[in-house]
Order: sequence, then structure tokens, then C-alpha cells
Amino acid sequence: MAHHHPEIIPREKLNFGLDRDIPQYWLGGDPFKTRFCDAMSTIFPEGERYFISCVRDFRDQVSDPQLKQEIKDFIRQEGQHGIIHSQFNEHLKVQGIDVDKLEGITRWFLFDVLRKYVPKKHTLAATAACEHLTAILAEALFERKDMMGSADPRMFAMYAWHAMEEMEHKAVAFDVMQKVAKVGYLRRVWTQLEVTVSFNIQILLFTNFMLKSDGFSVGQRLKQFAKGLWWVYGPKGLFTGSLGAYLKYFKPGFHPWQEGEMRSYRLWLEAFNRSGDPVEAGRVVYAAAA
Ligand SMILES: [Fe+2]
Ligand SMILES: [Fe+2]
Repeated sequence: MAHHHPEIIPREKLNFGLDRDIPQYWLGGDPFKTRFCDAMSTIFPEGERYFISCVRDFRDQVSDPQLKQEIKDFIRQEGQHGIIHSQFNEHLKVQGIDVDKLEGITRWFLFDVLRKYVPKKHTLAATAACEHLTAILAEALFERKDMMGSADPRMFAMYAWHAMEEMEHKAVAFDVMQKVAKVGYLRRVWTQLEVTVSFNIQILLFTNFMLKSDGFSVGQRLKQFAKGLWWVYGPKGLFTGSLGAYLKYFKPGFHPWQEGEMRSYRLWLEAFNRSGDPVEAGRVVYAAAA
């Protein structure tokens, strides 16, 4: 059955104007929220390189020309995400964050542990699981205006672009996992549990690392975490607000395109195609949510 879903369009050489004057706490002046997102930003470049490698492991076994093309476009999109997040991460270095250390930990875990000792079927399934997480995170950030509404417009635009492209390619790793690597239900759901736990732990540790590096005392950080964890895991939290979408992954017959595109996607796409400017596209999405 053919279903209609957005085309995967690699977009390159984008300029978000990520200059030095981006406020240190660009998300509503809030240290926890900002560093939580910044923690993700330090994980993305290595993480996306890992996703690319894990999908590439199976590329030679793909015979369907459409899936082959989708893999190509997926790789180009993830490659660009890594480049832009690395650009932004340079700002974090200027702020005194030891980004190299954080990236080194991520690289060691993904490439020296997982890719060395874990079967390729399993790392592909973990990639598909992460792609589900990024796709629902994209929706959580941009379909609910309370989440990113207070962001610096350039950062808003950068995350909006990343979110829209995550949505465009959300089924690629999943299709390779099911159609080519023939991963079964148990491995699919087990890897989802694995990545959910490890992603949450890693991001909270990195957030704490950054807040400590910013000079916040243990007491201050405890307060920031008490409030921040509510923002993430409270009843309408960033993650818990998407619990329903998250759990769909555990349905035996799940496929990412059972859920359509996010509501703001067409708006974003139209604005981007008209202006060629990702900041303008972000502004349109922002205005529509306000
Ligand atoms: Fe990405
Ligand atoms: Fe992705």
C-alpha cells in the first residue's frame, strides 16, 4: 500500500546566523532548559554519524531503488545536521564548555563500544529507535508553543529545520530495519527501551556537566534540576507529553508513517521554498504558533 508522505529533501549550506551574540541562555534565559538542549547538541554530531554508519551497514543489501534513494537523502540530511550543530557547539566552547570531552565520551561509547561489540542488526534497531525518539521530540518542540516559544529566533529556526527534516526521514532506518535486516518485534522493542534509558541518562549527565561548568553550585543545580525535571518529566513535560506517541512504537504493527507529518511542516516547507531562508521559515512557524 502506497502512502503519501513528505519527500526527503537534503538542504545544504544553510545560514542560521549563528553568531557570537546568541545569548548564553538562549531558551527563555533559562539555564536548565538551554543546557538541556545544548546537551543534545553536543550528542548530535557523533550520534548522527553513528546513525549513518548503522544504516550504511545494510545499504548493499537494499534492492528497492526508492529505499536506496531515501537512504542517500537520509545520510545527506544527517550529515548536515551534524555540521550545523558542530558550528553551534563552537559557541559552547567559547563559553567554557569542554565540548571535546563530551563528544569524546559519546564517540567512545557509540564507536568503540557499541559498533565494535554489538551485532549490526542490533545497532540498526537502536538507530531506528532513536529516529522514533527524534521524530516525536521534533513534534514535542514545535507543535506545542510553550516549549520553544521563548527561544532566540535563530536557535528556534535551527531546531525547527532539524525537526522538519527528522520528520521527513523518520521512516528510513525503520524500513531498512524491517525490510532489509528483518529485525523482529522483540529486538525492536528491546532496543527502544535501551536507547530510551541511555539517552535520558546521558542527556541529564551532560546537562549537569554544563551547568557545573557554568559555575552553578550543587545547591543551585539541585534547584534547577527540581524545576527542570518537572519541565521534562512532569505531566505535560517535554518527554512525558509525548508518552502516547512514544508508546506507539511498542505496537506490533507500528510504522512511522501511521502518524502523518507534523502540522507545522507544510507551513515551514512553503516558507522555506518561497524564501530559501531557514530563519524566515522558522519565523513563520513561530508566528503561526503564537
Ligand atoms: Fe538529525
Ligand atoms: Fe534522524
